[in-house]
Amino acid sequence: MQTAYPAEPYKIKVVEPIAVTTRAERERFIADAGHNTFLLRSDQCTIDLLTDSGTTAMSDRQWAGMMLGDEAYAGSRNFLHLQQVVRDYYGFRHIVPTHQGRGAENLLSMILIRPGDFVPGNMYFTTTRAHQERNGATFVDIIVDEAHDSQVELPFKGNVDLAKLERLIDEVGPSRIPYVCLAVTVNLAGGQPVSMENMRSVAMLCRRHGIRVMYDATRCIENAYFIKTREAGYEDVSIADILKEMMSYADGCTMSGKKDCLVNIGGFLCMNDDELYQKASELVVLFEGMPSYGGLAGRDMEAMARGIIESVDYAYIHHRVSQCRYLADRLAAAGIPVVRPTGGHAVFIDAGAFLPHVPQDLFPAQALAAALFVEGGVRAMERGIVSAGRNRDTGDHHRPKLELVRLTIPRRVYTYAHLDAVADACIRLHERRDEIGGLEMVYEPKVLRFFTARFRPLAA
Ligand code: F0G
Repeated sequence: MQTAYPAEPYKIKVVEPIAVTTRAERERFIADAGHNTFLLRSDQCTIDLLTDSGTTAMSDRQWAGMMLGDEAYAGSRNFLHLQQVVRDYYGFRHIVPTHQGRGAENLLSMILIRPGDFVPGNMYFTTTRAHQERNGATFVDIIVDEAHDSQVELPFKGNVDLAKLERLIDEVGPSRIPYVCLAVTVNLAGGQPVSMENMRSVAMLCRRHGIRVMYDATRCIENAYFIKTREAGYEDVSIADILKEMMSYADGCTMSGKKDCLVNIGGFLCMNDDELYQKASELVVLFEGMPSYGGLAGRDMEAMARGIIESVDYAYIHHRVSQCRYLADRLAAAGIPVVRPTGGHAVFIDAGAFLPHVPQDLFPAQALAAALFVEGGVRAMERGIVSAGRNRDTGDHHRPKLELVRLTIPRRVYTYAHLDAVADACIRLHERRDEIGGLEMVYEPKVLRFFTARFRPLAA
């Protein structure tokens, strides 16, 4: 019989034991954490699906590269290697390393945004939007409407609605739009990809108006895989060539290397424009470090350079995306509402549909994530009303249509047996979902509240 999934394209050389806990212990842990999975300790979690960010298992070759770290303050050979690899695989002329993705977002937003500007994007990401707003811009969502509906099956649900973009350009004028921020894939839509055709069209429209296109390339390898497997004409094109073509439609990108560059820390900002590079290399010194290390050790840059090369291997990315699909299909088969189609880095449970008796203002996704931890020691993340934060002007909650719990799959870390354990816990919980009540927020930080907010459970 053919197995239902591709076997791991690696073998395990080092193991890390994980926590085995009792339900009573987990009830205590989640109460101590204020019912916020971000505040749990990692050694309290049996299967940690909080994020795919920085949680990657590096390869033996990356670890070997760590020993070749050149920790010179300036001009490290690892920077030169990283620069060469980024040029070869991403195709941009300039690279400024940063400690992680938001470091690059900070530089980009500070350089390009003037107060009163508008930054259109295909749905927001928390840190990305926070940096845009901090610099005085208003974020405008230009993703296709279907992306806000968890059940519509579309191959490229991360696409930009070109009419929305054109309308914004007409309304505010191209001079008020410093750049379009295009995320490939779209994390908060469920890891949905953008088609090559859409990237090409966005580039053409923006070039006509003299507007830059900057990618959030954080999960661009997953996006390339979806293009290969879903977009006509790309079946026989390599992931590396797809990546190169994708990036050719951008003026630059921010990158969280902690995802698709297969490292535990690191990021970068890329661009072709010399003047933009000049400004970024002046500013990076203030916030990150010299332009040749940007807050990273030489060894970290070496690991990232090697990770980029490994990331375009088809066997790797096929296995990764297949793991997500396997978990989603198991949940869907049991009647659990998950975002369709399955994205590249995670399975998103539709918490609004899972807990229809909990109104959005009582934080259903937060409550479900807490309940899943108690049920199976599985740590997931809320991606709903808590993550969306408040409107700057009215002070009211942003109320996203998607009220989700994200089960994020770290790269090369868990096996299919772990995924089965996660699925079993979700299914058990779904069978007694009526017993899960909402939450009340008892502590709310001002920015990026989801990281440290605390909650009190309410009766179901
Ligand atoms: N852009 C996207 C699409 C992201 O998902 C993230 C991080 C960032 C930018 C920021 O990068 O963390 O390196 O500063 N996402 C993590 C997550 C935190 O769990 O989704 P960073």
